[in-house]
Amino acid sequence: MSDSDGGVARARDVLEAGGLVALPTETVYGLAALITRGDALRRIFAVKGRPADHPLIVHVADMEHARVLSRNWSPAAERLAARFWPGPLTVIVERSATVDPVVSGGLDTVAIRCPDHEVTLQLLRSLSAPVAAPSANRFGRVSPTCAQHVIDDLGDDVDFVLDGGASVVGLESTIVDCTVDPVQILRPGAVTESEIRAVLSETSPAAGPSRASGMLESHYAPRCRVLAVVDRDEARQLSMQPDSRLIDAAHDPESAARTLYADLRRCDADGIAVAVVLLPPATGIGIAVRDRVFKAAAGR
Ligand code: TXA
Ligand code: MG
Repeated sequence: MSDSDGGVARARDVLEAGGLVALPTETVYGLAALITRGDALRRIFAVKGRPADHPLIVHVADMEHARVLSRNWSPAAERLAARFWPGPLTVIVERSATVDPVVSGGLDTVAIRCPDHEVTLQLLRSLSAPVAAPSANRFGRVSPTCAQHVIDDLGDDVDFVLDGGASVVGLESTIVDCTVDPVQILRPGAVTESEIRAVLSETSPAAGPSRASGMLESHYAPRCRVLAVVDRDEARQLSMQPDSRLIDAAHDPESAARTLYADLRRCDADGIAVAVVLLPPATGIGIAVRDRVFKAAAGR
């Protein structure tokens, strides 16, 4: 049995016993509990310091598991899941009675995704039920993209950390509300609006107001001040101030997405006062990178 097999078996035992497990995904690490364990679900909110009306994302092994969670699995959700799962896309659909209202923060809808991470897929296939998992950070802080980030943030408040290496995408999933027509993108991510448009050619997704906690102005925030800058020379000037550091997210936006949260955490660890982030253009994953940088910059 390899280390990761041993880890998966341990993670399964802890979850089945009603514990909390931090698990790897391609986007960020999640803090997971079985959706059949109301006590464990409530503990997620307590550990994160998350308000009870901020719903969780349910993680499934495949589309069959997803359909059971929905009272009205929509054609749009079907097409998006068929195209992008496993992958960094979350669909919001009408909740079935099998989903504990605690998961949905009292809403009639539920958010579902199938993560693209072999270790976690192996775990999900071995469980008696899907898991609900928000990002494994304290509410409002920067999401974790490796096991050490989770340990730094949550320490003993999590029963087991399943180490699956560094997250390869690095930003939270794209969230698409499939209960409205046309569907609405509630949070930008690695799956882009144009990719979604291409799959749902007859409907056009639109941005709009939402209840996603990721839409709060100040979110994903490190302790240091974050400056979002578009001009390279200005960014270089600003980062020459004492206790300042340049994060170049413009040169290679995909790699910037992967490392942004680790870079912000390192600024805090190194006592940096101001992180100057050079923004990528607003196309492709650059849209999601800019979204998270603006949120990290807000309200500080
Ligand atoms: O990539 C991801 O999505 C990661 C990994 C762990 O899968 N998870 C994640 O979870 O980012 P969290 O809880 O940090 O963000 C979930 C977002 C929240 O903003 C929440 O408000 C929104 O999803 N959400 C969940 N259920 C919803 C629903 N029924 N309606 C609207 N928004 C919902
Ligand atoms: Mg989060």
